[in-house]
This record gives sequence, structure tokens and C-alpha cells, in this order.
Amino acid sequence: MSVKANIPDYSMPAEQVPLYQPQFLSEADKSTLKQEIADNLKARGAVLVAHYYVDGDVQDLAEATGGCVADSLEMARFGHEHPAATLVVAGVRFMGETSKILSPEKRVFMPTLKAECSLDLGCPPAEFRAFCEANPERTVVVYANTSAEVKAQSDWVVTSSVALPIVESLDAQGKKILWAPDKHLGHYIQTQTGADMLLWSGACVVHEEFKAKALFDLKAVYPDAGVLVHPESPAAVIDIADVVGSTSQILRAATELPHDTFIVATDRGIFHKLRQRNPGKRFIEAPTAGDGATCRSCAHCPWMAMNELSTLAAVLRNDTLLAQNEIHVDPAIGERAMVPLNRMLAFKA
Ligand code: 13P
Ligand code: SF4
Repeated sequence: MSVKANIPDYSMPAEQVPLYQPQFLSEADKSTLKQEIADNLKARGAVLVAHYYVDGDVQDLAEATGGCVADSLEMARFGHEHPAATLVVAGVRFMGETSKILSPEKRVFMPTLKAECSLDLGCPPAEFRAFCEANPERTVVVYANTSAEVKAQSDWVVTSSVALPIVESLDAQGKKILWAPDKHLGHYIQTQTGADMLLWSGACVVHEEFKAKALFDLKAVYPDAGVLVHPESPAAVIDIADVVGSTSQILRAATELPHDTFIVATDRGIFHKLRQRNPGKRFIEAPTAGDGATCRSCAHCPWMAMNELSTLAAVLRNDTLLAQNEIHVDPAIGERAMVPLNRMLAFKA
């Protein structure tokens, strides 16, 4: 049973989503910046941890300098387990905060702290506390795309890689669940597990834009294509998918499935890795156009786009700018948030 909570809609209106236009760089500029960043990472004893949605050059640099490119779960794990005392997280703010919570002794920096996430913004801690207090009998499961303060109020943190088996196991223990913030992911998990879930009503501004009708029409043009969908997408889009999964699960499916063409419904940043790992295969963006589409419907997260080579280079070049982009988490909140995060990392399906 999936129940929509009696709370306001916390999806971000399209006009509030920032427009972000990355700077154009020549190949020569890119290679100069990459070298400078690599030198500064080394000089600062730092490792670069990047998400699959950020600029392809930043992803390549993370790998070339001994860091990693990963989904939000593996970013958290990698940053925690890596011996470096300094982490530079290229992603959005909750990813930097998660790294800091798991490794409070490390210094964690980001190219910019302006890199938000509509799910995080759509789950204000005070309102979320009231929601939890109104439903004390429920086990609180929150998506990793939330602030440290929201995580600190939860029993479990999950990412889209592990949300299904964790909710399945809680359901098997007879637990009723309070889920936040993504209503689409929550609905998908509920339909897959049959768990009793009370849902918050946030959404991802990128995935919410994928259109089922247009995807259906595109599939008719490429009838042999596999359809890979991130579960932050609306239910009607998920219904058309061959595989529904996190970024890393989408990447795995693209390699393992026999199709030579795929239509992919997730942020377009992932196409860099999809094409790198599968040079013989063809990847097509799932459509965002259709009724209700806005000029912001570009399938690229404006906050992930802020992780540019030039921004990263500027921050690592200048101590003042670096200090301004350091992640700080209140130690008491961090200590509380570490408990549900560690539960997730220790979970074995
Ligand atoms: P993953 O956990 O699949 O990497 O997703 C994070 C995210 O922000 C998706 O929009
Ligand atoms: Fe958040 Fe969506 Fe951007 Fe992922 S793609 S960081 S869920 S706004």
C-alpha cells in the first residue's frame, strides 16, 4: 500500500530551477586545466571523487588521478575507505555532506557549494521532523539525496542502488515505512515490494521531465532498442523500461544486455561513461519534450553542471576559495546521521 502523505507538494516549480550554462573550453585549455588540477590535488594530498553526471573531463580526471567515478553509494564508500585525508567531491552538496558524515576527520571540499539537488531542497528538516512526529509508528527511510539534518532524523538512508532490497527486508520484518523525499522512487519501490509506505512528495527536476508518450513513440522508431530508466522517473516512463536502476546499474545493464542500441532516461552526463565502456553500441537520450515541457527540460542537472574543470581548478588554486567551498557538518548531527548511513553500507541483500 502506497499512501500519499497529507503534506504540500514539495516538487520544485520549473521557474525556480536555475539555468546553468557551462563555459566553453578549447582542448588546449582543458588539458592545461587538467594538469593544474592534477598537480594541486597531489600537492594537497587530495583525491577526486566524481559522480557519473558531471562533466566528462572531470570524470576522466578523477580516474586518471587515482580517484573514482561512481554512483552516489560507491562515492560514499570510496571516499570513506580511501586513505587520503582530503576529499574533493564533484557532484552535488548531499554527496559532499555524506562523505563528511562518514569521515568527520577528513576535510571535504567541492568545486562549488551552490551545487544543490531539488530533492534535498524539497525536504526542509523542520517540516520533515513534523512529518516524522505525526507518524511515530513508522520506520523512517530517506533517500541519500537529503541534507545531513534530514538523514539525522532517519532510521535508514538508502540510495537507488540498494533501496529495493532494504525496503524489502524491512517489509519482511513487518515494518511500516515513512519514505522521503522522492515520490517517484518511493512509488516504484512500493509497487515492487508491496511494502506499506507513506510518501513525501518531492521530485527530481531532471527525471521528472521524461515523457512516457514521447518515449513510447521513440521506441517505435527503434523497436530493438533496450530502454534503461533511473527510478526517479515518473511511473509511466518506468513502465516502458527493460531495466530500472541506479546509475551504476544502468551502466552495467548497457554492457551486459545483448542490445546494440539503448534509449536512456537519466541525466545526460552518464552518456560519457556509457559510450566509453561500450564503443560499439548506440545510446539515445530519452525524450523530455512533449506537453508541459519547459526550456529547462534538457535532461541535464543544472547543479551537476556546475562541476566544471575551470571551477575545480579555481578552487584548488586559491586557499580562500577552497575554504569557502569546504563542507562542514555539525558534529552532533553528523554523529546521528552516521548511524543510518552505516546501516546502509553494512547492508547485505
Ligand atoms: P545514483 O545513486 O543512481 O548515482 O543517483 C544519484 C542521483 O542524484 C540521481 O539523480
Ligand atoms: Fe538531484 Fe535530480 Fe540533480 Fe540527481 S539529477 S542531483 S536527483 S536534481
